Amino acid sequence: MTGAADLVILANRLPVDQVQTSTGEIGWRRSPGGLVSALDPVMRTHDGAWIGWPGVADNGTPLAPFVEDGLTLVPVGLSEQEVEEFYEGFCNATLWPLYHDVVAPPEFHREWWDSYRQVNRRFAERAAEIAAPGATVWVHDYQLQLVPQMLRELRPDVAIGFFLHIPFPPQELFSQLPWRRELLEGLLGADLVGFQRAGAAANFVRMVKSLVGLRTHRTLVQTDDGRFVRAAAFPISIDVQHFETLAGSDSVVQRAAQIRQALGNPERILLGIDRLDYTKGIHPRLRAYAELVAEGHFRIGESIFVQVATPSRERVQQYQVLRDRVDQLVGRVNGDLGVIGRPAISYLHASFPQHEMAALYRAADIMVVTPFRDGMNLVAKEYVACRLEGDGALVLSEFAGAADEFKQAWLVNPYDINGMKATILEAAGADEKERSRRMRALRRTLRDNDVSQWASTFLGALAETRDA
Ligand code: G6P
Repeated sequence: MTGAADLVILANRLPVDQVQTSTGEIGWRRSPGGLVSALDPVMRTHDGAWIGWPGVADNGTPLAPFVEDGLTLVPVGLSEQEVEEFYEGFCNATLWPLYHDVVAPPEFHREWWDSYRQVNRRFAERAAEIAAPGATVWVHDYQLQLVPQMLRELRPDVAIGFFLHIPFPPQELFSQLPWRRELLEGLLGADLVGFQRAGAAANFVRMVKSLVGLRTHRTLVQTDDGRFVRAAAFPISIDVQHFETLAGSDSVVQRAAQIRQALGNPERILLGIDRLDYTKGIHPRLRAYAELVAEGHFRIGESIFVQVATPSRERVQQYQVLRDRVDQLVGRVNGDLGVIGRPAISYLHASFPQHEMAALYRAADIMVVTPFRDGMNLVAKEYVACRLEGDGALVLSEFAGAADEFKQAWLVNPYDINGMKATILEAAGADEKERSRRMRALRRTLRDNDVSQWASTFLGALAETRDA
């Protein structure tokens, strides 16, 4: 069975989440996370179909394909039990912590694995139905690592690319996974497997050799059925032009001024924007700032830290633990250090539209991005894109993929609180010339690798791998 789509994108989430409007009808809201922000503009320039989950458990009748805001969307339903075992369980309590340096302990449960296989099969079957003969199918992220192999069995005629948006761990950690071989074999169904960093691609090839026993040569793997699979790095980016236009619009400029005023026109605004995730290093970052205030380096009223934490995976236990820890820290810091009407940290547990984010980026003097481990971190790139005047400072974790490209950021180790404090102080004290030298270099780097270039490089490499 074949369909009509020449380009099919599969990601666990559709770019929009299903919500109920006040009148009880179905409405759509943009989904959270970096994957959706990166792929949305790619889909708009390529006429394809996007297969994904609409973000709520299904009552047994999956929605029919539909067009929303110009994109063709094909929903895949998950039952309440699959949301628990596949999405919250295997994806976000097994793979997510395992792939992020085990910063939280991963849990291994056999029923979760069964559910992961079952849902991956459903995605593969959906792709097999809608892909045109010889189509290109691009599978995304850790939730769907078995899809390439499953789809190849159903549709050997299509070109299959896979891109992992998050880090890929070294063998020492990956080997913990009871189903390590099956996952590697799942990925090997693709013609091209893309990663954020070259080290991740090398981890993959090394493990294919040692755990699956296949022949490898540099970036190539030879499979038992005589195919060649290529693994390489394709660092993802953002739609730079879109953010520049947004940041330069009158309404964003005005909103940025309003934000500064609402915060009491301080001399210095520091900003953090993250999904509320334990990989993002929110806690040590706020501790570092609080200590700088307590020691008198920053004064209440003159400086403020704005932390936006977008609600995420709220039913997963480690996320609940983190939320409590951050709530407690912010409460204590503001209780100890704030004065009436002027907190040390302005904390927002909310998700904002891009327009508000752009205004925050414009308003912030120092952006602080300190993940313990992060595939790329697009917030860092969005901040740089919005600094149209070439000012502002980016403090960035060396453990974010973005650090490979953003050498001129103020790089920090989030495990080293004293080091972070010293670097934040350095960024705050740098003169205008130094800040602008660094920011202009960051902006040049960003412009050299825009998301449309990322997508065309990946799709070009996929076509070449097929032709070879
Ligand atoms: C990261 C992942 C995405 C994921 C997003 C949001 O960016 O790489 O695959 O969609 O987080 O997480 P969620 O669990 O809400 O989809």
